[in-house]
This record gives sequence, structure tokens and C-alpha cells, in this order.
Amino acid sequence: MRSSSISLLKLLIFLLALLPLDRLIWLGLNDGLGANPIEMITRSTGTWALVFLCLTLAMTPLRLLTSSSFWIKLRRMLGLFSFFYASLHFLIWFGLDQNYDVMAMIKDVIKRPFITMGMLTFLLMLPLAITSNHWMQGLLGRRWSQLHHLIYILACTAILHYWWHKAGKNDLQTVSLYALIVGLLLCCRMPYIKNKFLLK
Ligand code: HEM
Repeated sequence: MRSSSISLLKLLIFLLALLPLDRLIWLGLNDGLGANPIEMITRSTGTWALVFLCLTLAMTPLRLLTSSSFWIKLRRMLGLFSFFYASLHFLIWFGLDQNYDVMAMIKDVIKRPFITMGMLTFLLMLPLAITSNHWMQGLLGRRWSQLHHLIYILACTAILHYWWHKAGKNDLQTVSLYALIVGLLLCCRMPYIKNKFLLK
């Protein structure tokens, strides 16, 4: 694919990735966030953080299946969108749920295991977002890929966060589907699966 086509496609994906945020702003301005706007925004941003995380994890299997490095060119942007929605998710909870009170935040992180898992996931995302640029990649060399293996751990803690939240409500259908998707995407990294099913 020509580099101008890739840039155009990246721009299109960038604009598409902003649609969930546009939708929330539009609903907010038009009284459309429902009876519990904080819950609605927290849920929406959390869900999109997870969706972009799954998309990020899907890029390597797609590269192996198609023998095209094109997918890897999208990976950083998708990962950063996951972090972007996770940051909004965190800020809404910290600002609107905890009133920017750091002590209340720490208490909630300690008290509720699903919040502990969410915070752990967010903290694991931070070094990946900070080192996502080419400069840091060059600076860290081989250690960069080792550091970025953290995505496998944070994908599991994100699922645990979602699972724990829904287990209390006896509503595990959607989270089970996400767990299956993340599980399959992680299995694609296993040498046996990679060699047998993905590499041509
Ligand atoms: C500081 C870190 C985090 C905190 C404090 C936090 C907090 C919360 C809270 C309070 C909810 C419940 C919303 C409600 O039903 O009222 C929630 C749900 C959720 N969070 Fe997080 N979260 C954090 C990080 C993350 C991250 C990093 C992800 C994804 C990568 C994530 C994904 C989700 C998902 C998918 C839901 C469920 C949405 C639904 O009910 O449909 N969260 N989180």
C-alpha cells in the first residue's frame, strides 16, 4: 500500500475513533445521557477503552495472517485511543464520583476489588503510553518490546475489572464474550498456535 493511502486510512480511523466521544458530547448537550449520566459516561468510556485494547491486540495476528506489516502501522494509534478512553473513564470517576478527593479515591481503590483492578490496569497502561513514541522506542531498544509485553497482563486485569464489576450484578454475558476475545487474541501469541494457524 502506498504511504499516502496509509496516511489517509490512518486519518479516517482517527476520526472514526473519536466518534464515541462525539456521541457522548452530543448526548450531553441534548439531555440524552439518561437518568444517571455519570454511570452512562463511565460505562461508555470503559467499554471503548476495552474495545480499542482488543483492536490493538488484534493487529499482530492480522499481520501474521496476511503477511502484511500494514496492521502494525495502526497499532500505536489504537493503543493510544485505548489509553485515551481509559483516561476519560478514570477522570470521570475521579472527578464526578470521588469529587477529586485523593483520600476518597485511595479508600475506594482499597475497598472495592473491581476498582483495584481498574486502577492496576490504568497504571500498567501509563508506561506503555509514555513510551509509545519512536524516540522512546529507539532509546529503550530491546527493552521496549519487553516493556510492551505488559499489554498481555493489563488485558487480563481489564477483563478481571469488568468481570468483578458485573459478577456483583449477576450479568456476565457481555464480559464473557470480551474474555473469550481477549483469550483468543492472547493465544495467538503462543508459538504453537502461531506456527500452526497463523504463519503461512
Ligand atoms: C483508574 C482506573 C479505573 C477506575 C477507577 C474504573 C472505574 C470503573 C467504574 C466505577 C465502573 C462502573 C461504572 C458503572 O456501572 O457505574 C467501571 C466499569 C467498567 N470499566 Fe473501569 N475503571 C478503571 C479502569 C478501566 C480500564 C483501564 C478499563 C479498560 C481497559 C476499564 C473498563 C471498564 C469496563 C469495560 C466497564 C464496564 C462497563 C459496563 O458496565 O458496561 N476500566 N469502571
